[in-house]
Amino acid sequence: MYRSHTCGELNDSHIGQTVTIAGWTQTIRDKGNIIWVDVRDRYGITQVVGESGRVSEDILNSLKGLGREFVIQIKGEVVERHSKNPDIPTGNIEIVASEVTVLNKSEVPPFTIEDNTDGGEELRLQYRYLDLRRKPVQDKLRLRHKVSVETHKYFDSIDFMEVETPYLIKSTPEGARDFVVPSRMNPGEFYALPQSPQTFKQLLMVSGYDRYYQIVKCFRDEDLRADRQPEFTQIDCEMAFVDQEDILNTFEGLVKHLFKECRGVDFLEDFPRITYSEAMERFGSDKPDVRFEMEFVNLNDVAKGKGFGVFDNSELVLAINAKQCAGYTRKQLDKLVDWVKRPQIGALGMIYCKCNEDGTFKSSVDKFFSQEDLAQWAEAAGAEKDDLLLVLSGETDKVRSQMNELRLHMGDELGLRNPNEFAPLWVVDFPLLEWDEETERYHAMHHPFTSPKAEDFDLIKTDPGKVRANAYDLAMNGVELGGGSIRIHDKDLQARMFELLGFSDEEAEKQFGFLMNAFEYGAPPHGGIAFGFDRLVATMGGSESIRDYIAFPKNNSGRDVMIDSPATLNEKQLAELSIKTAIKQD
Ligand code: AMO
Repeated sequence: MYRSHTCGELNDSHIGQTVTIAGWTQTIRDKGNIIWVDVRDRYGITQVVGESGRVSEDILNSLKGLGREFVIQIKGEVVERHSKNPDIPTGNIEIVASEVTVLNKSEVPPFTIEDNTDGGEELRLQYRYLDLRRKPVQDKLRLRHKVSVETHKYFDSIDFMEVETPYLIKSTPEGARDFVVPSRMNPGEFYALPQSPQTFKQLLMVSGYDRYYQIVKCFRDEDLRADRQPEFTQIDCEMAFVDQEDILNTFEGLVKHLFKECRGVDFLEDFPRITYSEAMERFGSDKPDVRFEMEFVNLNDVAKGKGFGVFDNSELVLAINAKQCAGYTRKQLDKLVDWVKRPQIGALGMIYCKCNEDGTFKSSVDKFFSQEDLAQWAEAAGAEKDDLLLVLSGETDKVRSQMNELRLHMGDELGLRNPNEFAPLWVVDFPLLEWDEETERYHAMHHPFTSPKAEDFDLIKTDPGKVRANAYDLAMNGVELGGGSIRIHDKDLQARMFELLGFSDEEAEKQFGFLMNAFEYGAPPHGGIAFGFDRLVATMGGSESIRDYIAFPKNNSGRDVMIDSPATLNEKQLAELSIKTAIKQD
């Protein structure tokens, strides 16, 4: 037995016992005739002491010979510490070493393996196995594990079955680029890795597995951001014989269960629901952060037609009310103007209006607007003394998206986005289609198996852009945690949908013929949802970056810098795969 106890469990109750621990040397404090060594494992840190007079010279020398991150085994007696450390569970005791065994030496690590490390992100990714030794990283993976366990428990308790689906498949319809895998046995042919198990879970409904779920890897070749990885994990779910209401309730139950068990957060109320169009109107986003207000105010009626060309030529004049910010200095306001003008945001400018303590107003467009005009703005925005209105104008979609960014930025600046507060929200009635300027055709906003709302059905011929879908997302704290839809289960409707999306009969048959065929054999009404597991865990942990919650993530260029992948292939491998590349290989 390498150890009798872990480094996290010894306390006052063990005083007097002889124990053995094993772990890594975290810190060594050598004061000459006394030396302390902190030993770390996954469970905690335990202090080991050697003092001349109390331990043999050999032991003292062995302790002095240790280096950072050596793997060691220590035997000794647990004693009460003189200077206690109330911050850690083992802080009352230390072990007086009677045996020191070096199980393995270590090179000096490239960064300190402590809660606050000196290593930059790229270096920590390169040595991820060392980074993973750090407690804050371990805590994140522990949360991930817990969420996984509780997901299985919840689903098992309500008769869901986990079914695995294949990874070597063909193109799936989620709208990103595929990662492909060449087939040696079928020269010139490629598998695609699943962007999601979408088609398989629908086939499972045809097979009668009416409550399916799977915690599953998905692969998408898309531009990466803090909340996107090329391979990520979904909690993928599908149900048969249900309508939208059943789905929302079942999975709201899952999210409530997970927050309660894994985070100690009890959502007592039903999650609010708003329609997509309302979300866009009030927040300019289909995943609004509703931890704070600052909702959009339409100033068209009070700001247009007063001779200010910028507003008069705009489709939409929008304001947000930053409460109690009238004290913003010229410098702070200029900084905000620069911020909205950055290419990522793309506004041409920003107008402000301060609601002064004395009831007067001060705006950057005083030349065009009287005090009475500005009072109307303030009234429309529900602004009070000491508030600050920030105004953007332009084309509806653009100005909404810019204002969404500005609203979130102000939320951050004013400390209104508390990571320990959780504000879930169902967004429903998404449009079925979205127009793509580049290809000049409609795309399915969710995916081509999403059903249109029956009452909008006739619009498909006359005004397809207006058709709403039975599609929904769960947003929380400005993050899209999950999304799904009620599917089309009728072969003819599915064929019409493919036609609307510009698929020829041959293309539809080639790509999704298997699903259409399956629908000939009794497809039940069905629908589902998939949650971004990494995003869910990161949001629970109060972080916007999913990378920290993935054991071995990729960097922003999609590289694994630890194993140095992707990499070239040698000629033999390429020949076996019948592949010639334009880039020279090894
Ligand atoms: P969707 O494409 O909306 O739906 O994906 C579901 C959820 O997966 C997460 N997600 C990601 N997380 C990390 N990195 C990525 N690159 C990434 N892409 C998506 C998001 C998202 O809400 N088959 C449908 C679901 C269905 O209709 O049932 C689907 O995959 O949190």
